[in-house]
Amino acid sequence: MAFLELIDLKTHFPVKKGLIFRKQVDMVKAVDGVNLAIAKGEILGLVGESGCGKSTLSRTVMQLIPATSGSVMLEGKDLTKTTAHHMRSQRINFQMIFQDPYASLNPRMTVYTTLAEALRTRFPALNGDELTGRVSELMERVGLDRRFMRKYPHEFSGGQRQRIAIARALAPQPKLILADEPVSALDVSIQSQILNLLKHLVRELELTMIFISHDLSVVRYIADRIAVMYFGKIVELGRAEDVMDNPQHEYTKTLIASIPKIEKRG
Ligand SMILES: Nc1ncnc2c1ncn2[C@@H]1O[C@H](COP(=O)(O)OP(=O)(O)O)[C@@H](O)[C@H]1O
Ligand SMILES: [Mg+2]
Repeated sequence: MAFLELIDLKTHFPVKKGLIFRKQVDMVKAVDGVNLAIAKGEILGLVGESGCGKSTLSRTVMQLIPATSGSVMLEGKDLTKTTAHHMRSQRINFQMIFQDPYASLNPRMTVYTTLAEALRTRFPALNGDELTGRVSELMERVGLDRRFMRKYPHEFSGGQRQRIAIARALAPQPKLILADEPVSALDVSIQSQILNLLKHLVRELELTMIFISHDLSVVRYIADRIAVMYFGKIVELGRAEDVMDNPQHEYTKTLIASIPKIEKRG
């Protein structure tokens, strides 16, 4: 049994026109029949150009957007069929990391408060020294000095802020991480540090991750397998090296050709 399996998953958005009689004129097929099985412990890289449906796919997996049809099977249970109540208790098992940690972190909350709140979603009884200890531990895991615990997001660099967002995602001990363009806003020199950290954490904590990026050179660096998305569909899926060395789909070939040459040799 796959850890996560998407079966003929579709998420369509109606396009409406007219001010009073909002007539549906079209349909955006953001996710259009995706089949994908992900094993426990795997890092699946999802790549494709902007607008191809990557974020919609990840939100549909999390049930933040309802699927139009199809199934999201997590450890054999169909999330599209679960009640809202059950889904709320399930959501703790999924954590997201976004492109812009500055937008996703609360500017009025210190690192301590942010991480303490995230820890308490899973461990509501944590308090006092024990809570502070767990916050320190999380900070160390992501390479932040515990002395920064009382600082606010604006006091950190972009890379450090993304480390805080990663620590917050790890706090409730999720099973699945959905990382949506997590390094796209960072300087190239910082990107590889964050990619290495994510890869290391997924292995160490035996997590499973869907890593989303429009940038194939980033995805191939971290992913075990790569899924190439094009207009709502997965057009190519395979082991990262196979997809890079022997792409089958024309669109994948275009993506590979667009990676700067110097990098390709490395
Ligand atoms: N809430 C929405 N309502 C209507 N259309 C949407 C909505 N969200 C996304 N879309 C459309 O779905 C397509 C896929 O978007 P998205 O999933 O954000 O792509 P990506 O993350 O790959 O850039 C785009 O055409 C986008 O405009
Ligand atoms: Mg997106």
